[in-house]
Amino acid sequence: MGTVGGAVGGAGSSTLLVTGIGELVTNDPARPGMLGIVPSASLLVADGRVVWAGASGAVPPESAELAATAEVLDVGGAAVIPGFVDSHTHLVFGGDRAAEFEARMSGQPYTAGGIRSTVAATRAATDAELSSRLDGFVAELHAQGTTTFEIKSGYGLTVDDEARLLRLAERVTPETTFLGAHVVPAEYADDAEAYVELVVGPMLDACAPHARWIDVFCETGAFTPEQSRRILSAGASRGLGVRVHASQLAPGLGVALAVSLDAASVDHCTHLTPDDIARLAASRTVATLLPGVEFSTRQPYPDARRLLDAGVTVALASDCNPGSSFTSSMPFCISVAVRDMGMTPAEALWAATAGGAAALRRDDVGHLTPGARADFAVLRAPGYVHLAYRPGVPLVAATYRAGVRVG
Ligand code: NIG
Ligand code: FE
Repeated sequence: MGTVGGAVGGAGSSTLLVTGIGELVTNDPARPGMLGIVPSASLLVADGRVVWAGASGAVPPESAELAATAEVLDVGGAAVIPGFVDSHTHLVFGGDRAAEFEARMSGQPYTAGGIRSTVAATRAATDAELSSRLDGFVAELHAQGTTTFEIKSGYGLTVDDEARLLRLAERVTPETTFLGAHVVPAEYADDAEAYVELVVGPMLDACAPHARWIDVFCETGAFTPEQSRRILSAGASRGLGVRVHASQLAPGLGVALAVSLDAASVDHCTHLTPDDIARLAASRTVATLLPGVEFSTRQPYPDARRLLDAGVTVALASDCNPGSSFTSSMPFCISVAVRDMGMTPAEALWAATAGGAAALRRDDVGHLTPGARADFAVLRAPGYVHLAYRPGVPLVAATYRAGVRVG
């Protein structure tokens, strides 16, 4: 396999022909198999979009002239996959919780209460500090093949702090989520209902203009199903899409709530009842599994096999945050999901790309069919299976977003 040069296909090149692709994952449902794989492929990109993908040498006549004049990127037999869609992160925060992680690895349990220590560190951080840290995380995502990512607020928990986290997040992604209901902050510990009033009132007013989504942590120690319904409904009535954190620490009513509100996604899903699975299977709500959380909290993994066999749409996401899962690596999530959650390598890659796009209700990303945004990763490997087969190895050689190299 050849190497991918730094300048090739960089900003300024509006037409790009990627050739020498040993294995192209398109996620095109019109092609055979879950991943719509094309062996010995080429990919033609113009103005940031996929124009054509198919067997090398089979460029259709209507694209021949474009292909003939395009800048050529020969990847020398490498696999090319759609860019990862990480539909769940919490990337705007101050401090870290390495000491909490170390204590957990000595036997302490994970509890929702740890969120409050990040809230204190985040409130104390300046915009410039949070922003430069965020830029570092975005570079980390790009270097690991992620081209679309969601970011939640949730470590401010005051009107001004939640709005400022969303303003910082919207600088780097349109997929921003208002999570004022992450946990009840210390100053409202004795009056959770007053905090809910704040969230559905002035906080929502300040945050809705900067968010596409609303989310709630519906779990013992965070928000009850009744409080969660009230908050999510308030967001929905302001035009925000619904997502829910649920059933992370124990079974509960969060999944039923998410489905009843036609949430785009319910995330964690570690402890599901048979009824939860039946509800998800009969809905268009995606179950987003977060392997980094169980890895980093030593909790039992969710059973992806049960969900897939029931016909539920499954996504994988990093949940990158300083408490429960401080990884930004989708390849890592794929390896864990394959090793410990009953997914095949193909199911895991689909869930990390097309599944993430479904969880964000996006049809322009997560696949490489004509018209899609030209987001792709070139692997330092001949096939996608290596993502799970070579855990921990940096296999992403180059990342392109809208046809421009970003990592
Ligand atoms: O998705 N579960 C709630 N929120 C985060 C954890 C945040 C934290 O521990 O700081 C999660 O796992
Ligand atoms: Fe989360």
